[in-house]
Amino acid sequence: MVDLSADIGIPLKNPLILTSGILGSSAHLLKRVASSGAGALITKSITEDPRVGHENPTVIEVSEGLILNAMGLPNPGVDIFLNELETLEAVNLPIIPSVAGYSEDEFGRVASRLEDAGFRIIELNISCPHSTALSSKKVIAQDIDKTRRVVNAVRSVTSLKLIVKLSPNVTDIVEFADVAIKAGADALSLINTIEALEVDPYVEAPVLGNVFGGQSGPSIRCIAQRKLTDIALAMWKGEIERVPLIGVGGVRTPKDVFRFLLLGADAVGIGSSILYEDLAIFEDVIEGLEQIMTDKGYDMLDEFRGKVISQILDMTI
Ligand code: SIN
Repeated sequence: MVDLSADIGIPLKNPLILTSGILGSSAHLLKRVASSGAGALITKSITEDPRVGHENPTVIEVSEGLILNAMGLPNPGVDIFLNELETLEAVNLPIIPSVAGYSEDEFGRVASRLEDAGFRIIELNISCPHSTALSSKKVIAQDIDKTRRVVNAVRSVTSLKLIVKLSPNVTDIVEFADVAIKAGADALSLINTIEALEVDPYVEAPVLGNVFGGQSGPSIRCIAQRKLTDIALAMWKGEIERVPLIGVGGVRTPKDVFRFLLLGADAVGIGSSILYEDLAIFEDVIEGLEQIMTDKGYDMLDEFRGKVISQILDMTI
């Protein structure tokens, strides 16, 4: 039996995490995810007030493995979210609320409510590329100063473990990682979706109701791997502080999870691939990962985690 246990500031029975934005703000869905085999789940992003989200269509499959969404952070608001959770019987995995907001104060207030309700760890979603309806304006995670201020604001009002979700839509993601860590992030997750847009050539109009969206699915995996590598290299070289990394982007198979772990991820998010594989993906990926480790003679993740980063360090300047 191999040991899949992982650590992102809290211990996990395995490194697979349901990423935010997919399922998970109702008790019924959280319960389904809890029995899926995932090591942890990140809820849909919660704001202070309810949000209905953007106009339909909010999710489209452009081609196999290339998904665009612009949901607009629909959620019932923190009060209803907490009431809903009270109806949830104890589940056997960590629930990590994702928090979004319009201002640093809103982030702080929602985080405090969650801490008071007994949560130990949250994710700050500062990187949804289309959080404001019909706007192509840059978001918090694309502005170094706003990133610092939001993380600082939450850090100063709570002692929760903070995961900060970074955007790939920046010139230098390492700079943002550094600022988030210095402002109080205990872990980083990356990447959120990639700014994207699709046009219907027959109707001669944008396809998504919100016009602007974010690309996810297997088509973005290598981009996510490159961004993770940039941060891991900076950490391994001692240029920025080392904190746990959650690799997210296009993960669909056990080999994909193994790739992210080789690149130094402490845990790996699975999101859009659930649209193809349903929640059965977690058990399938765990089984496949155990098989890869057994075939290669590994007993635990730390025996190979970051192995390719060490190689890249030796190969590159
Ligand atoms: C959305 O609700 O629009 C997706 C969430 C995200 O991209 O962070």
